Amino acid sequence: EKGGYEHFMLKEIHEQPKAVQDTIAAYVKDGAIDFSEVGLTDEVLQSLERIYIVACGSAYHVGMVAKYVLEDLAHIPVEIDLASEFRYRNPYLAKNSLVMVISQSGETADSLAALRLAKDRNVPTLGVVNVVGSSIARESDYVLYTYAGPEISVATTKAYSTQLIATYLIAIQGAKVKGIIDEARYDALLKELNTLPEKIQKALDDKERMQWFASKYANAKDIFFIGRGIDYAISMEGSLKMKEISYVHSEAYAAGELKHGTISLIEDGTLVVGVLTQKELFEKTVSNMVEVRSRGAYLMGLTNYGNYSVEDTADFSVYVPKTEQYFATSLAIIPLQLMGYYVSVAKGLDVDKPRNLAKSVTVE
Ligand code: M6R
Repeated sequence: EKGGYEHFMLKEIHEQPKAVQDTIAAYVKDGAIDFSEVGLTDEVLQSLERIYIVACGSAYHVGMVAKYVLEDLAHIPVEIDLASEFRYRNPYLAKNSLVMVISQSGETADSLAALRLAKDRNVPTLGVVNVVGSSIARESDYVLYTYAGPEISVATTKAYSTQLIATYLIAIQGAKVKGIIDEARYDALLKELNTLPEKIQKALDDKERMQWFASKYANAKDIFFIGRGIDYAISMEGSLKMKEISYVHSEAYAAGELKHGTISLIEDGTLVVGVLTQKELFEKTVSNMVEVRSRGAYLMGLTNYGNYSVEDTADFSVYVPKTEQYFATSLAIIPLQLMGYYVSVAKGLDVDKPRNLAKSVTVE
Protein backbone atom coordinates (compact mmCIF):
# COMPACT_ATOMS: atom_id res chain seq x y z
CA GLU A 1 0.00 0.00 0.00
CA LYS A 2 2.93 2.32 0.50
CA GLY A 3 4.13 1.43 -2.96
CA GLY A 4 7.58 0.45 -1.77
CA TYR A 5 8.12 3.66 0.18
CA GLU A 6 8.92 3.61 3.86
CA HIS A 7 6.15 6.05 4.73
CA PHE A 8 2.98 7.41 3.16
CA MET A 9 4.45 10.87 3.37
CA LEU A 10 7.39 9.96 1.15
CA LYS A 11 5.08 8.21 -1.26
CA GLU A 12 2.79 11.24 -1.39
CA ILE A 13 5.73 13.58 -1.85
CA HIS A 14 6.68 11.55 -4.89
CA GLU A 15 3.13 11.56 -6.20
CA GLN A 16 3.20 15.33 -6.57
CA PRO A 17 4.15 15.49 -10.25
CA LYS A 18 1.17 13.28 -11.07
CA ALA A 19 -1.23 15.03 -8.68
CA VAL A 20 -0.31 18.38 -10.18
CA GLN A 21 -0.55 17.00 -13.70
CA ASP A 22 -4.00 15.54 -13.02
CA THR A 23 -5.28 18.78 -11.52
CA ILE A 24 -4.05 20.80 -14.48
CA ALA A 25 -5.50 18.27 -16.93
CA ALA A 26 -8.90 18.48 -15.24
CA TYR A 27 -9.22 22.19 -15.94
CA VAL A 28 -7.00 23.03 -18.89
CA LYS A 29 -8.46 21.74 -22.12
CA ASP A 30 -7.24 22.55 -25.61
CA GLY A 31 -4.98 25.26 -24.32
CA ALA A 32 -7.66 27.07 -22.30
CA ILE A 33 -8.98 26.97 -18.76
CA ASP A 34 -12.36 25.31 -18.55
CA PHE A 35 -14.25 25.74 -15.29
CA SER A 36 -17.52 24.26 -16.52
CA GLU A 37 -17.17 21.39 -14.03
CA VAL A 38 -16.84 24.00 -11.27
CA GLY A 39 -19.72 26.10 -12.51
CA LEU A 40 -17.60 29.22 -12.20
CA THR A 41 -18.46 31.21 -15.30
CA ASP A 42 -16.43 34.02 -16.82
CA GLU A 43 -19.28 36.39 -15.89
CA VAL A 44 -18.99 35.46 -12.22
CA LEU A 45 -15.22 35.85 -12.29
CA GLN A 46 -15.47 39.15 -14.09
CA SER A 47 -17.89 40.56 -11.55
CA LEU A 48 -15.73 39.73 -8.55
CA GLU A 49 -14.59 42.75 -6.58
CA ARG A 50 -13.16 40.88 -3.63
CA ILE A 51 -12.29 37.38 -2.54
CA TYR A 52 -12.19 36.22 1.08
CA ILE A 53 -10.04 33.14 1.47
CA VAL A 54 -10.67 31.10 4.58
CA ALA A 55 -8.77 27.97 5.62
CA CYS A 56 -6.69 26.28 8.32
CA GLY A 57 -3.11 25.06 8.52
CA SER A 58 -1.42 24.30 5.23
CA ALA A 59 -4.55 25.22 3.28
CA TYR A 60 -4.26 28.67 4.86
CA HIS A 61 -0.67 28.82 3.60
CA VAL A 62 -1.97 28.14 0.10
CA GLY A 63 -4.33 31.05 0.67
CA MET A 64 -1.36 33.28 1.51
CA VAL A 65 0.22 32.42 -1.84
CA ALA A 66 -3.12 32.90 -3.56
CA LYS A 67 -3.44 36.41 -2.16
CA TYR A 68 -0.17 37.50 -3.77
CA VAL A 69 -0.99 35.85 -7.08
CA LEU A 70 -4.63 36.95 -7.33
CA GLU A 71 -3.87 40.54 -6.42
CA ASP A 72 -0.81 40.89 -8.64
CA LEU A 73 -1.99 38.92 -11.64
CA ALA A 74 -5.77 39.35 -11.61
CA HIS A 75 -6.08 42.63 -9.67
CA ILE A 76 -8.65 41.13 -7.34
CA PRO A 77 -8.31 42.33 -3.72
CA VAL A 78 -8.02 39.34 -1.42
CA GLU A 79 -8.47 39.05 2.29
CA ILE A 80 -7.31 35.95 3.98
CA ASP A 81 -8.36 34.60 7.32
CA LEU A 82 -7.84 31.59 9.48
CA ALA A 83 -11.20 29.87 9.59
CA SER A 84 -11.15 29.80 13.38
CA GLU A 85 -10.82 33.60 13.41
CA PHE A 86 -13.14 34.43 10.55
CA ARG A 87 -16.08 32.58 11.98
CA TYR A 88 -15.96 34.42 15.29
CA ARG A 89 -15.18 37.93 14.15
CA ASN A 90 -18.38 39.02 12.46
CA PRO A 91 -16.56 39.82 9.21
CA TYR A 92 -17.88 42.56 6.96
CA LEU A 93 -18.42 40.94 3.59
CA ALA A 94 -18.51 43.39 0.71
CA LYS A 95 -20.90 43.05 -2.20
CA ASN A 96 -19.77 41.24 -5.37
CA SER A 97 -17.47 39.13 -3.30
CA LEU A 98 -16.76 35.43 -3.06
CA VAL A 99 -15.78 33.37 -0.06
CA MET A 100 -13.28 30.69 -1.02
CA VAL A 101 -12.76 27.87 1.43
CA ILE A 102 -9.71 25.70 0.85
CA SER A 103 -9.69 22.26 2.46
CA GLN A 104 -8.16 18.90 1.64
CA SER A 105 -10.59 16.85 3.72
CA GLY A 106 -13.60 19.07 3.25
CA GLU A 107 -14.48 18.28 6.86
CA THR A 108 -12.43 20.72 8.94
CA ALA A 109 -14.91 22.03 11.50
CA ASP A 110 -13.83 25.67 11.50
CA SER A 111 -13.62 25.83 7.72
CA LEU A 112 -17.09 24.36 7.42
CA ALA A 113 -18.44 26.86 9.95
CA ALA A 114 -16.83 29.71 7.98
CA LEU A 115 -18.51 28.44 4.82
CA ARG A 116 -21.86 28.35 6.58
CA LEU A 117 -21.39 31.87 7.84
CA ALA A 118 -20.83 33.06 4.26
CA LYS A 119 -23.93 31.20 3.10
CA ASP A 120 -26.00 32.79 5.86
CA ARG A 121 -24.90 36.16 4.55
CA ASN A 122 -25.80 35.22 0.97
CA VAL A 123 -22.27 35.52 -0.27
CA PRO A 124 -21.37 33.00 -3.01
CA THR A 125 -18.97 30.31 -1.90
CA LEU A 126 -16.29 28.34 -3.67
CA GLY A 127 -14.86 25.20 -2.10
CA VAL A 128 -11.42 24.05 -3.18
CA VAL A 129 -11.64 20.51 -1.91
CA ASN A 130 -9.87 17.19 -2.40
CA VAL A 131 -12.33 14.71 -0.92
CA VAL A 132 -15.29 14.16 -3.22
CA GLY A 133 -18.67 14.45 -1.56
CA SER A 134 -17.26 15.89 1.69
CA SER A 135 -19.28 18.42 3.70
CA ILE A 136 -17.54 21.49 2.29
CA ALA A 137 -17.90 20.14 -1.24
CA ARG A 138 -21.59 19.46 -0.72
CA GLU A 139 -22.38 22.81 0.82
CA SER A 140 -20.37 25.12 -1.47
CA ASP A 141 -22.04 26.88 -4.40
CA TYR A 142 -19.07 26.12 -6.62
CA VAL A 143 -16.64 23.26 -6.11
CA LEU A 144 -13.20 23.10 -7.59
CA TYR A 145 -11.90 19.64 -6.88
CA THR A 146 -8.20 19.08 -6.58
CA TYR A 147 -7.03 15.78 -8.02
CA ALA A 148 -4.45 14.74 -5.46
CA GLY A 149 -6.04 11.35 -4.80
CA PRO A 150 -6.28 10.00 -1.24
CA GLU A 151 -3.81 11.55 1.17
CA ILE A 152 -3.03 9.36 4.17
CA SER A 153 -0.11 11.03 5.90
CA VAL A 154 -1.19 13.63 8.46
CA ALA A 155 1.29 16.09 6.99
CA THR A 156 -0.14 17.33 3.74
CA THR A 157 2.06 17.45 0.66
CA LYS A 158 0.31 16.54 -2.56
CA ALA A 159 -3.01 18.10 -1.56
CA TYR A 160 -1.18 21.35 -0.79
CA SER A 161 0.50 21.23 -4.20
CA THR A 162 -2.77 20.72 -6.03
CA GLN A 163 -4.45 23.52 -4.06
CA LEU A 164 -1.73 25.83 -5.33
CA ILE A 165 -2.57 24.83 -8.91
CA ALA A 166 -6.25 25.55 -8.26
CA THR A 167 -5.45 29.08 -7.14
CA TYR A 168 -3.10 29.75 -10.07
CA LEU A 169 -5.88 28.68 -12.44
CA ILE A 170 -8.39 31.04 -10.83
CA ALA A 171 -5.88 33.89 -11.00
CA ILE A 172 -4.99 33.26 -14.65
CA GLN A 173 -8.61 32.98 -15.71
CA GLY A 174 -9.54 36.01 -13.60
CA ALA A 175 -6.76 38.03 -15.25
CA LYS A 176 -7.97 36.96 -18.67
CA VAL A 177 -11.66 37.73 -18.24
CA LYS A 178 -10.86 41.06 -16.63
CA GLY A 179 -8.73 41.96 -19.64
CA ILE A 180 -5.56 42.37 -17.56
CA ILE A 181 -3.47 39.96 -19.59
CA ASP A 182 -3.54 39.46 -23.34
CA GLU A 183 -3.83 36.20 -25.22
CA ALA A 184 -0.06 35.79 -25.56
CA ARG A 185 0.55 36.18 -21.84
CA TYR A 186 -2.33 33.81 -21.08
CA ASP A 187 -0.84 31.19 -23.37
CA ALA A 188 2.62 31.67 -21.89
CA LEU A 189 1.31 31.24 -18.34
CA LEU A 190 -0.52 28.04 -19.23
CA LYS A 191 2.50 26.74 -21.08
CA GLU A 192 4.68 27.33 -18.04
CA LEU A 193 2.04 25.79 -15.76
CA ASN A 194 2.27 22.63 -17.84
CA THR A 195 5.99 22.36 -17.18
CA LEU A 196 5.49 22.19 -13.40
CA PRO A 197 5.06 18.40 -13.08
CA GLU A 198 8.40 17.84 -14.79
CA LYS A 199 10.10 20.57 -12.76
CA ILE A 200 8.70 19.20 -9.50
CA GLN A 201 10.19 15.87 -10.52
CA LYS A 202 13.56 17.57 -11.03
CA ALA A 203 13.36 19.07 -7.55
CA LEU A 204 12.57 15.60 -6.18
CA ASP A 205 15.57 14.14 -7.95
CA ASP A 206 17.82 16.18 -5.65
CA LYS A 207 16.43 14.53 -2.54
CA GLU A 208 19.70 12.97 -1.36
CA ARG A 209 21.11 16.41 -0.79
CA MET A 210 18.20 17.29 1.51
CA GLN A 211 18.50 13.95 3.26
CA TRP A 212 22.14 14.63 3.99
CA PHE A 213 21.41 18.15 5.23
CA ALA A 214 18.46 17.00 7.36
CA SER A 215 20.56 14.36 9.12
CA LYS A 216 23.11 17.05 9.93
CA TYR A 217 20.46 19.35 11.41
CA ALA A 218 18.22 16.72 12.99
CA ASN A 219 19.09 17.90 16.47
CA ALA A 220 18.46 21.57 15.86
CA LYS A 221 16.71 23.34 18.73
CA ASP A 222 15.16 26.09 16.65
CA ILE A 223 14.92 26.77 12.96
CA PHE A 224 13.87 30.04 11.39
CA PHE A 225 12.48 30.38 7.88
CA ILE A 226 12.55 33.83 6.37
CA GLY A 227 11.30 35.30 3.12
CA ARG A 228 9.31 38.16 1.64
CA GLY A 229 6.07 38.08 -0.34
CA ILE A 230 5.41 34.64 -1.78
CA ASP A 231 8.63 33.50 -0.14
CA TYR A 232 7.14 34.36 3.24
CA ALA A 233 4.16 32.13 2.44
CA ILE A 234 6.52 29.30 1.46
CA SER A 235 8.40 29.83 4.71
CA MET A 236 5.19 29.40 6.70
CA GLU A 237 4.56 26.01 5.12
CA GLY A 238 8.17 24.85 5.46
CA SER A 239 8.11 25.82 9.11
CA LEU A 240 4.84 23.99 9.79
CA LYS A 241 6.22 20.80 8.29
CA MET A 242 9.23 21.02 10.61
CA LYS A 243 7.08 21.46 13.71
CA GLU A 244 4.39 19.00 12.77
CA ILE A 245 6.38 15.89 11.96
CA SER A 246 9.89 16.63 13.24
CA TYR A 247 9.04 18.29 16.56
CA VAL A 248 11.61 21.00 15.99
CA HIS A 249 10.57 24.41 17.16
CA SER A 250 10.57 26.65 14.17
CA GLU A 251 9.22 29.97 13.10
CA ALA A 252 8.53 31.59 9.80
CA TYR A 253 9.11 35.28 9.62
CA ALA A 254 8.60 37.95 7.03
CA ALA A 255 12.28 38.72 6.50
CA GLY A 256 11.91 42.43 7.15
CA GLU A 257 10.14 41.87 10.46
CA LEU A 258 12.90 39.90 12.20
CA LYS A 259 14.65 43.00 13.41
CA HIS A 260 11.54 44.03 15.35
CA GLY A 261 12.18 41.52 18.07
CA THR A 262 12.74 37.98 16.93
CA ILE A 263 16.33 38.50 15.88
CA SER A 264 17.26 38.38 19.58
CA LEU A 265 16.67 34.61 19.42
CA ILE A 266 19.47 34.06 16.93
CA GLU A 267 22.48 32.43 18.55
CA ASP A 268 25.67 30.87 17.38
CA GLY A 269 24.76 28.03 15.03
CA THR A 270 20.99 28.69 14.81
CA LEU A 271 19.76 27.46 11.43
CA VAL A 272 18.09 30.14 9.34
CA VAL A 273 16.59 29.19 5.98
CA GLY A 274 16.29 32.09 3.56
CA VAL A 275 13.77 31.56 0.75
CA LEU A 276 14.59 33.60 -2.34
CA THR A 277 12.47 32.88 -5.38
CA GLN A 278 11.26 36.42 -6.10
CA LYS A 279 13.63 38.44 -8.20
CA GLU A 280 12.87 41.94 -6.91
CA LEU A 281 13.08 40.76 -3.33
CA PHE A 282 16.28 38.75 -3.66
CA GLU A 283 18.71 41.42 -2.47
CA LYS A 284 16.37 42.53 0.31
CA THR A 285 16.20 39.06 1.80
CA VAL A 286 19.92 38.52 1.30
CA SER A 287 20.54 41.59 3.44
CA ASN A 288 18.38 40.07 6.21
CA MET A 289 20.39 36.86 5.90
CA VAL A 290 23.59 38.85 6.33
CA GLU A 291 22.11 40.42 9.48
CA VAL A 292 21.48 37.05 11.11
CA ARG A 293 24.79 35.62 9.92
CA SER A 294 26.61 38.36 11.79
CA ARG A 295 24.74 37.14 14.93
CA GLY A 296 26.09 33.63 14.40
CA ALA A 297 23.35 32.01 12.29
CA TYR A 298 24.10 29.12 9.97
CA LEU A 299 22.43 29.90 6.66
CA MET A 300 20.64 27.77 4.13
CA GLY A 301 19.60 29.62 0.98
CA LEU A 302 16.77 28.24 -1.16
CA THR A 303 16.51 29.72 -4.62
CA ASN A 304 16.17 28.98 -8.33
CA TYR A 305 18.97 27.76 -10.57
CA GLY A 306 20.81 30.76 -11.92
CA ASN A 307 20.76 32.78 -8.69
CA TYR A 308 24.22 31.53 -7.78
CA SER A 309 25.16 34.72 -5.95
CA VAL A 310 23.27 33.23 -2.99
CA GLU A 311 26.48 31.29 -2.36
CA ASP A 312 28.21 34.52 -1.34
CA THR A 313 25.91 34.63 1.67
CA ALA A 314 24.57 31.14 2.44
CA ASP A 315 26.58 28.30 3.96
CA PHE A 316 24.43 25.75 2.17
CA SER A 317 22.56 26.47 -1.05
CA VAL A 318 19.64 24.58 -2.51
CA TYR A 319 18.39 25.17 -6.04
CA VAL A 320 15.10 24.34 -7.71
CA PRO A 321 14.28 24.81 -11.41
CA LYS A 322 13.38 28.25 -12.71
CA THR A 323 9.76 29.07 -13.33
CA GLU A 324 7.35 31.96 -13.61
CA GLN A 325 7.58 33.77 -10.27
CA TYR A 326 3.87 33.26 -9.50
CA PHE A 327 4.45 29.49 -9.55
CA ALA A 328 7.63 29.46 -7.49
CA THR A 329 5.97 27.92 -4.43
CA SER A 330 5.26 24.73 -6.31
CA LEU A 331 8.99 24.06 -6.66
CA ALA A 332 10.52 25.68 -3.59
CA ILE A 333 8.26 23.75 -1.24
CA ILE A 334 9.71 20.41 -2.38
CA PRO A 335 13.09 20.63 -0.59
CA LEU A 336 11.31 21.93 2.52
CA GLN A 337 8.91 18.98 2.56
CA LEU A 338 11.88 16.65 2.14
CA MET A 339 13.76 18.41 4.91
CA GLY A 340 10.84 17.98 7.33
CA TYR A 341 10.46 14.38 6.30
CA TYR A 342 14.11 13.45 6.68
CA VAL A 343 14.51 15.21 10.03
CA SER A 344 11.54 13.22 11.30
CA VAL A 345 13.06 9.98 9.98
CA ALA A 346 16.48 10.79 11.43
CA LYS A 347 14.84 11.29 14.83
CA GLY A 348 12.99 7.99 14.54
CA LEU A 349 9.56 9.62 14.84
CA ASP A 350 6.22 8.38 13.63
CA VAL A 351 6.26 10.38 10.39
CA ASP A 352 2.78 9.60 9.13
CA LYS A 353 1.05 9.93 12.50
CA PRO A 354 2.70 12.65 14.53
CA ARG A 355 1.68 12.93 18.17
CA ASN A 356 -1.40 14.94 19.15
CA LEU A 357 -2.60 15.29 15.56
CA ALA A 358 -5.37 13.90 13.38
CA LYS A 359 -5.65 13.93 9.59
CA SER A 360 -8.80 15.91 9.67
CA VAL A 361 -9.60 18.31 12.46
CA THR A 362 -13.31 17.97 13.05
CA VAL A 363 -13.27 19.59 16.48
CA GLU A 364 -13.65 23.33 16.88
O1 M6R B 1 -8.39 19.11 5.52
P1 M6R B 1 -7.94 20.53 5.60
O2 M6R B 1 -7.19 20.97 4.38
O3 M6R B 1 -9.08 21.48 5.88
O4 M6R B 1 -6.95 20.59 6.81
C1 M6R B 1 -6.41 21.81 7.26
C2 M6R B 1 -5.28 21.59 8.21
O5 M6R B 1 -5.69 20.86 9.33
C3 M6R B 1 -4.10 20.85 7.55
O6 M6R B 1 -3.63 21.52 6.41
C4 M6R B 1 -2.92 20.68 8.53
O7 M6R B 1 -2.38 21.91 8.84
C5 M6R B 1 -1.90 19.71 7.92
N1 M6R B 1 -1.77 18.55 8.76
C6 M6R B 1 -0.55 20.31 7.72
O8 M6R B 1 0.34 19.40 7.15
